[in-house]
Amino acid sequence: MAQMLDRPAPDGARSVSWPWYHHLLTTELTPDARTILEKYSGIAPEDVESHIYSVRDKAWGIFPWPCVGEFWFIRFGLALHPLYKTMVLPRLQAGSSMLDLGSCLGQDIRKCIVDGAPAENLYASDLFAEYESLSYDLWRDEDVFRPGQFFADDILADNDLFTRGPLMTQIGPGQLDIISITMFLHLFNWRNQLRAATRILRLLSHKPGSLILGSQAGSVNAGELPLKPPFAATAGIDKRTVFRHNPESFERLWTEAGAAVGVPLRVTAVFQAPDAFGKGVDSGFDISPKDKKYVTGAETRRLYFSVMRV
Ligand SMILES: C[S@@+](CC[C@H](N)C(=O)[O-])C[C@H]1O[C@@H](n2cnc3c(N)ncnc32)[C@H](O)[C@@H]1O
Repeated sequence: MAQMLDRPAPDGARSVSWPWYHHLLTTELTPDARTILEKYSGIAPEDVESHIYSVRDKAWGIFPWPCVGEFWFIRFGLALHPLYKTMVLPRLQAGSSMLDLGSCLGQDIRKCIVDGAPAENLYASDLFAEYESLSYDLWRDEDVFRPGQFFADDILADNDLFTRGPLMTQIGPGQLDIISITMFLHLFNWRNQLRAATRILRLLSHKPGSLILGSQAGSVNAGELPLKPPFAATAGIDKRTVFRHNPESFERLWTEAGAAVGVPLRVTAVFQAPDAFGKGVDSGFDISPKDKKYVTGAETRRLYFSVMRV
């Protein structure tokens, strides 16, 4: 079991009075998301909002991630990455494979399919097996993104378990051209990020140019950030921290991971341009400015990154 959370969720975490549980959709339902739900998933226009509320509350019951409360599962974080249009989509269209790790309800995979990526080369994986069927409730596309393309696995599992788990046995080491880790690593402390990074490198193809990319919450001042209730403590751990990166610390993490597994890497990490920051692309433990006191400070930034095998 992953060291970063306990199941069931920490006491009180499912309360709908936490500020990151948005009771009503406002800016989260973008025209893009509405179009995909209507045209790709076939939801009647008048039912789109109730459909989202119903799936969100089922997802909240599985685990009350802030990103679930915030409806981030209908925002397409990977598509906001500077390399999405220039590198990810062209490679997928040319036949590259991609894993969305920490996929939650798989919105980034669906966006790639809608944008022309062949569905058969796409995979999703998450700690929670329940997300597979809930993602079909949301996107209604079992005939496109086929059952069997989702793998329930714990990237932090003990070595032996991980080696025998679905990611390593059903996809296999060295098989993936692209691994997206959008809003993922920031859930963990440095030690677990390093562990996850070495696992991700084991899954990545040995071909030069193979790519890991994503975005996450970062901080001008890199370091371990103690989490506040309800996520502060988990079973057996009194105080949880997550490591918030600036570009330099992020590069250090991957250099260390690459050295540990003998993989040469080129790492690029940048903060989101300041003029774009704060325009509604927050998630994870980032929440709206008025509620930032719960978990984040003024030094918070969104970090976009790529890690390429050279
Ligand atoms: C903040 S959410 C981000 C989801 C999605 N990538 C997005 O951008 O909306 C992080 C996801 O990572 C998953 N996760 C957490 N710990 C994990 C672990 N140890 N192994 C695999 N997935 C994990 C969670 O269940 C959750 O769905």
